[in-house]
Amino acid sequence: MKGVVLAGGLGTRLAPLTRVTNKHLLPVYNKPMIFYPIQTLVDAGITEIMIVTGGNNAGEFLRLIGNGEEFGLRHMNYTYQKKEGGIAEALALTKHFVGNDKVVVILGDNFVQGSIRQATEDFAKQPEGGKIFLKEVDHPQEFGVAVLDGDKVTEIIEKPETPPTNYAVIGIYMYDARVFDICDTLKPSGRGELEITDVNNDYIRRGVMTYEFIDGWWADCGSFEALLRSNNLVAREHGVDI
Ligand code: G1P
Repeated sequence: MKGVVLAGGLGTRLAPLTRVTNKHLLPVYNKPMIFYPIQTLVDAGITEIMIVTGGNNAGEFLRLIGNGEEFGLRHMNYTYQKKEGGIAEALALTKHFVGNDKVVVILGDNFVQGSIRQATEDFAKQPEGGKIFLKEVDHPQEFGVAVLDGDKVTEIIEKPETPPTNYAVIGIYMYDARVFDICDTLKPSGRGELEITDVNNDYIRRGVMTYEFIDGWWADCGSFEALLRSNNLVAREHGVDI
């Protein structure tokens, strides 16, 4: 199983914090943001990891992470996203790295309290398809929202004005190698991006998408409020009284 951390984009929603640096290098309590998703992959037993970054600060990732020694890794892989074409465009850049393997994709600004090790092992045994992770949230309209029918996910709607459920699709995705064929078929959305939600809906239509609710908290850093919340959640994990 390969691991991919997506850390591109301009982070415009966090300007001016992101004017001179990449969002994923901003601090979350006592570490740069990207350390957390890398650790989540390493804790899941994944040792072959590629970071996709872009923009003007791509070189900083190499200086910061090097070969991943801090995470107990022997090597770290990097690739560069020239444009800001969305999550699925960034993922497509890792095709040569993933090959015919399966892949766990994690957004560089997503944090989970719990481990995804068991889910990764389960997905390794899943014959084909993908797996997504859900969390009940108060403001589902800010996320991809899942519609469920028993043990099946029937549709994901990206940032719906009137969410049909409170189940946010979090930024951790597991795919078989077919994901790259699906990425090739995508058309840009209204925001001009290749959407990961379109990838997920393709797997759903084929009937090969599984889902799990995650335990513990989940946070992303897509807005100032979310960034602050992530800092506070991680600080509390360290026993800081906030
Ligand atoms: C992306 C996905 C969305 C998902 C979210 C999780 O949103 O498109 O489906 O719920 O990540 O962080 P974005 O941050 O690109 O707006």
